[in-house]
Amino acid sequence: MPAFRTVRGMRDFLPKDTERIRHVEQVSRELAQLYGYGEVITPVVESYDLLAAKSGEEIRERMYAFKDLGGRKVALRPEFTASVARLVATKMRNEPKPMRLFCVGSLYRYDEPQYGRFREFWQANYELIGSDKPEADAEIIMLTNDLLTRLGLRKYRFKIGHMGILRGILSQEGIDEEQNSIMQLLDKKRWEEALTVARESGASQNCLTTLRKVFEIRGEDASDILKKVEKSVQGYERAVAAVENLREILQLTEENVVKLEVMIEAGFARGLEYYTGIIFEPYVPEIEIALSGGGRYDKLIELFGGEPTPAVGVAQGVDRIVLAMKKQRVPSKVAKERRVVVIPVNEESKEKALQLSSKLRTAGLSVEMEVMERTVSKALSDADRRK
Ligand code: HAM
Repeated sequence: MPAFRTVRGMRDFLPKDTERIRHVEQVSRELAQLYGYGEVITPVVESYDLLAAKSGEEIRERMYAFKDLGGRKVALRPEFTASVARLVATKMRNEPKPMRLFCVGSLYRYDEPQYGRFREFWQANYELIGSDKPEADAEIIMLTNDLLTRLGLRKYRFKIGHMGILRGILSQEGIDEEQNSIMQLLDKKRWEEALTVARESGASQNCLTTLRKVFEIRGEDASDILKKVEKSVQGYERAVAAVENLREILQLTEENVVKLEVMIEAGFARGLEYYTGIIFEPYVPEIEIALSGGGRYDKLIELFGGEPTPAVGVAQGVDRIVLAMKKQRVPSKVAKERRVVVIPVNEESKEKALQLSSKLRTAGLSVEMEVMERTVSKALSDADRRK
């Protein structure tokens, strides 16, 4: 037999690494409880059409898609939002709003493996469904901030934009169908190509000049940046309303969060197609990739056959948060629980040792019994080695 390896892009997690992943997962779940999010479990395998509907070109091309033995076109989930929107449009249709839902688990994307980018990765996902009010957006940002703080991360910063600014300008120019391909280009910072597509789709000269200005506006002083954006998008009413919405959300977070570090980027877009409002991604200075990603999506649930239902959510990238914790040397667990070894001194004491182990476990201690028939001194030095 050949020596088997993991498939390219797939990873084994040995106990230490698993502990880190589970720690982030556990803190995420505790937070879900503190904020009133009920946990749901949805399947890893979903219908291809559901997952492809609004995920965006980039994710669509990278899905693990296949026909199952019954001939159904299915795929491994690349994200949770589509599955949660399906739940809300079907089984949870009649639940009172707002609904707060949490899920955690593994996702699959055929991305090119590199630092922080894997083909199987974990997310802790929160969706707040049924409110179009800025306090809902603010809650999702505060919750993300709370998670990163609780995990011990420092100096992180939120990159923030608003899809309503870009979409507002384009819609008013009658550019609808091409919006998503423009957003995909912006997501990859291919500004000039995005402008070319806009021009070819019939954008006026005023629109192109406005977009060019908007792409360049970014900075840490939110009120100053928002003033600049507002000035640049005059005449595009929906874009002006989007700036106002962003201002309200940021004011709410400012009043509640202990100093949120932000970087407002008016030309910021995210690859997923369903976003309609605020979008954000937190970063730590040590790593160039986003730790999490979130935003408002007011049309998705309706698209899946539900009632028109506004929603906002975030997916915390568990793997990348773990990488950030390692870079910042944050320990994964605050205190190790007490661990005990029980060593039978001879053949006759084995039974007693087993009984004692059980009693100690009942009392809540972590117990490992010596099962190699080693001498007491050998077993003790092994216990030392394993701390
Ligand atoms: P996303 O930006 O595609 O958003 O993913 C969110 C986070 O998942 C990323 O910031 C990253 O930490 C992690 N992630 C994504 N792809 C990979 C990968 N290949 N390897 C490692 N980590 C990865 C969503 O998935 C949306 N569903 C978020 C959302 C929820 N929006 C509203 N509700």
